[in-house]
Amino acid sequence: MSNISIDQNKCILCEACIEACPRHVLFGDHSGVQVHYEEQCMACGHCVAVCPVNAVKHQELEPNGFLPAREGAGVSPEDLYYSLRARRSCRVYATKEVPRELLERLIDIARFAPTGRNWQDFEFLVIRDKSKVDKLSQKLAIHYGNLAKELEASGEGIPYYLKKAMYSFRKNYEFFLQGKDRIFRGAPVVILVHAHADNPESVDNCLYAVFHMLMMAEALGLGTCINGFLIRAAERDPEILEGLGIPEGHKIQGCITVGFPKSKFHRFPPRRPAKVRWM
Ligand SMILES: Cc1cc2nc3c(=O)[nH]c(=O)nc-3n(C[C@H](O)[C@H](O)[C@H](O)COP(=O)(O)O)c2cc1C
Repeated sequence: MSNISIDQNKCILCEACIEACPRHVLFGDHSGVQVHYEEQCMACGHCVAVCPVNAVKHQELEPNGFLPAREGAGVSPEDLYYSLRARRSCRVYATKEVPRELLERLIDIARFAPTGRNWQDFEFLVIRDKSKVDKLSQKLAIHYGNLAKELEASGEGIPYYLKKAMYSFRKNYEFFLQGKDRIFRGAPVVILVHAHADNPESVDNCLYAVFHMLMMAEALGLGTCINGFLIRAAERDPEILEGLGIPEGHKIQGCITVGFPKSKFHRFPPRRPAKVRWM
C-alpha cells in the first residue's frame, strides 16, 4: 500500500501537490493525481500541506501533527528583524535552574529545521547535571592548556587562525586553574547536537537545528551561546566525549550553552557592512 493517498472524491485536480512535490513523486492523468515514484518520497509533507481541500494523506505524517497555517507570514518583518538582531551570545548566566519543559521546547522546535532530503538525522544530548557540565568543561580546559603549550612549542609555523585563537586556549586553562569555567561560562545546561558523520550534509542539518534553538531560547527568555571549543576539541581528541554515550560514527556538529541570562542587553551593536556582489 502506498504511503500517499489521494481522496479522488475530494481532489479538485488543481495540481498544487504535483507542483509542490520536490521529488516528482506525483503526476496527474485523466483519472486524477497518481502516486508514481513513491520510493523517492522524502515525507516532507508538501503535498498534504498545499492541498486546498485536504484530499492528500501521508501515512508517515499524522494529520493532527500539521500546524494550521495563519494568514500572512506569521511574524512581521520588523519583529523578525528585531528578534534576529536581539539574539546575542550569553556568557553570563544566573544561578537558576532551567526547567526541563523549556529545554523540551528548544528540542521540539529544532526538529523543524530544514534538513537535506528531509533527513532529520540530528540527535540531541541535553546535559543538565551541573557536575557533568563542570566535568566536561574541566576536560576541555585541560585539552586547551595542552594545546596552547604544544602550539607555543612549535614556534612561528602555526596557521594564522590558530595563532589568533591561542590567547583563548591559554585563558581557558588559566581560568580552570583559578576554579573558573571559561569554556561554558558557568551555564547550567549544555546541549550537544550530533549526527552520523557519513552524511556530508549532517553538519548543515545540525547547525540549522542549533539556530532554531537559539531563536526559540531568546523568545523563552533564555540565553544561549554557541560553543566551538567543544566541537573542535572533540575533533582533535574524541576521548573528551567519553561517558556521554555518543553513538559510534556520530560527530558532534553543534554545541550550545543554555541558561537564564544574569544581565540584560540594553542595545545591540552594528555589524560591518556586507561584502556583496550583485550580478
Ligand atoms: C562557529 C562558532 C563558534 C563559536 N564558539 C564560541 C565559543 O566557543 N565560545 C564563545 O563564547 N562564543 C562562541 N561563539 C559565539 C561568537 O563569539 C559570537 O556569535 C560572535 O562574537 C557574535 O556575537 P553574538 O552571537 O552575540 O551576536 C561561536 C560562534 C560560532 C558561529
